[in-house]
Amino acid sequence: MSNRVSKVVLVGTGAVGSSYAFALLNQGIAGELVMIDVKKEKTEGDAMDLNHGLPFAPAKMIISHGDYSDCHNADIVVLTAGAAQKPGETRLDLVEKNTRITKSIVEEVMASGFNGIFIVASNPVDILTYATWKFSGLPKERVIGSGTILDTARLRYMLGDYFNVDTRNVHAYIIGEHGDTELPVWSHAGIGVIPIFDWMRKDPKYKVEDLNDIFVQARDAAYHIIEKKGATYYGIAMGLVRLTKAILQDEHSILTVSTYLDGEYDHKDLFIGVPAIVTRNGISGVIKMELTATEKDRLNHSIRVLKETMNSVNL
Ligand code: NAI
Ligand code: 2OP
Repeated sequence: MSNRVSKVVLVGTGAVGSSYAFALLNQGIAGELVMIDVKKEKTEGDAMDLNHGLPFAPAKMIISHGDYSDCHNADIVVLTAGAAQKPGETRLDLVEKNTRITKSIVEEVMASGFNGIFIVASNPVDILTYATWKFSGLPKERVIGSGTILDTARLRYMLGDYFNVDTRNVHAYIIGEHGDTELPVWSHAGIGVIPIFDWMRKDPKYKVEDLNDIFVQARDAAYHIIEKKGATYYGIAMGLVRLTKAILQDEHSILTVSTYLDGEYDHKDLFIGVPAIVTRNGISGVIKMELTATEKDRLNHSIRVLKETMNSVNL
């Protein structure tokens, strides 16, 4: 039996990447973490700092800074490199610059002989996930974007607060672009085993209009956080660790990741956030929800906007 440990390579150790590394160490998910960034000194410092936390960690993790040759036997390469939004910018505004950066990184990763799973978080994440798939030549199942994992988490947190129930008992999904055109799927939302609209009938203080306000707060949360502190990173870092764990532990978990549509939801040839099953071999299937006419229209609009932006960078 092989005693090889699971290996994650992280490319981009800025705010999101270093928060991911810290969360990974704290949760004891991976056996080895190698970090790469154009800022080599910063990454070396991160490796030293994280190693000094090992005596307090739940499990051993080999932590180092490295280069692309380290990707050859990695199980997962996580991409958190590239420009982030400045106040007032949308995620789609980053497309040109980050597509160029993603291309150069993915080519280097693939030149190492990498044959594992890519997790992509850099924005605009749905388009960069598609770009990673195209540039890598890996099967579509093995390229996974963080999609609406964070948006869904924000919505669940806010609904848990509104209904005063544990956020983990809120089953609600945001799908579509990780960005301004995303949508909530209220028709399949529930608290525990109770559909959300039935739960709301328990108390007249719950109003259907409030649900839309809560969704808008979740959708626009990044803008508010960026206004206040310049960037978002803790929430996505925990979402990326959740995704890493689902892969390494072959969980078959349903997460709203950015995955390839091949006819599901009547669309093809793009990556977008929908619930999908995450396994050790990547995505094993997309969950097809029966959407209402309004939900379908909103998803179609989100897909149109993504495809238009994708065309602007010739992917
Ligand atoms: P940051 O500016 O703090 O870090 C980016 C890092 O990428 C820097 O350390 C930089 O040196 C590195 N980098 C740039 N070009 C590189 C290259 N060619 N090779 C290697 N490293 C390179 O940015 P932050 O806040 O960490 O955000 C990173 C990305 O994650 C952004 O695109 C941001 O929009 C996205 N993001 C995505 C979220 C999601 O839900 N998917 C949530 C939050 C941020
Ligand atoms: C977020 O949603 C900026 O995509 C980033 O926090």
